[in-house]
Amino acid sequence: MTAPLFALGGDLNVNRLGFGAMQLTGPGIWGEPRDRDEALRVLRRAVELGVNLIDTADSYGPVVSEQLIHEALHPYPEGLVIATKAGLVRTGPGEWHPVGRPEYLRQQAELSLRRLGVERIDLFQLHRPDPQVPLADSVGALVELQREGKVRHLGLSNVTVEQIRQAREHATIVSVQNLYNLANREHEEVLDYCAAEGIAFIPWFPIATGELARPGGPLDVLARETNATPAQLAIAWLLHRSPVTLPIPGTSSVAHLEENLAAASVRLTEEQFSRL
Ligand SMILES: NC(=O)c1ccc[n+]([C@@H]2O[C@H](COP(=O)([O-])OP(=O)(O)OC[C@H]3O[C@@H](n4cnc5c(N)ncnc54)[C@H](OP(=O)(O)O)[C@@H]3O)[C@@H](O)[C@H]2O)c1
Repeated sequence: MTAPLFALGGDLNVNRLGFGAMQLTGPGIWGEPRDRDEALRVLRRAVELGVNLIDTADSYGPVVSEQLIHEALHPYPEGLVIATKAGLVRTGPGEWHPVGRPEYLRQQAELSLRRLGVERIDLFQLHRPDPQVPLADSVGALVELQREGKVRHLGLSNVTVEQIRQAREHATIVSVQNLYNLANREHEEVLDYCAAEGIAFIPWFPIATGELARPGGPLDVLARETNATPAQLAIAWLLHRSPVTLPIPGTSSVAHLEENLAAASVRLTEEQFSRL
């Protein structure tokens, strides 16, 4: 893979094209995968192809995604960065509820440490602010874990610029993970803020290409022009968009993984980028 590098938190050099391990679980991000062996193969192949940033969360499965990562890759190769999150409780397929109480976040961090089999979590992200808990309290719990050496860097997810500013009054925030792709640019302002501040921006749902990939649509035309697939164009566009974007396309299939990672060598001209 030929993706450029990004120094996450200033000291973790990652390839800018990572892997999101959410889709490895069962339907509704619930339970075991339909094809467990393929899920393990996807993780191993990702690392073989040069991925050294894997994104997961305690709530994917729940616990299943972290367990699969451990099973497929432990003992971890040097330089592999595993980013996890806490702050969402699961009650069933497709059901997610924010819980940002400090003691809960601490407990989830402790459990992720054990499941992943690491002494320190490279990047620990607050999955979503809990409207019932002051953000400063949730972030404070993360800072305490960092002081104890259980967490290396801190990140946020699903936040506004105002919330990032608030969190930064209490902590050094190295990454922000929000919904962002060619078809949904609602968080443009957050991306611009991160770019200006040198914070990594991890766009989730990076290949939501449906609308744009339709026959005759902009992705379809450009795909023929560049010999790339619509999914590759969507990823290449994110890499081109800003030097701080770290796309983490997710898949449960080795074939899609290989296709997605090949996007690192798709180069868009300025004209092609602005057309999209
Ligand atoms: N922070 C948050 O709140 C949050 C929310 C959602 C996701 N995330 C993170 O972001 C990562 C990426 O998001 P995502 O996985 O939901 O979305 P995505 O990467 O945009 O898309 C994944 C979907 O696209 C399919 N797909 C993948 N590659 C494809 C290809 N080359 N051709 C056709 N279809 C393809 C996958 O199905 P197959 O399995 O069949 O390939 C899957 O259904 C997640 O894994 C997770 O780590 C974070």
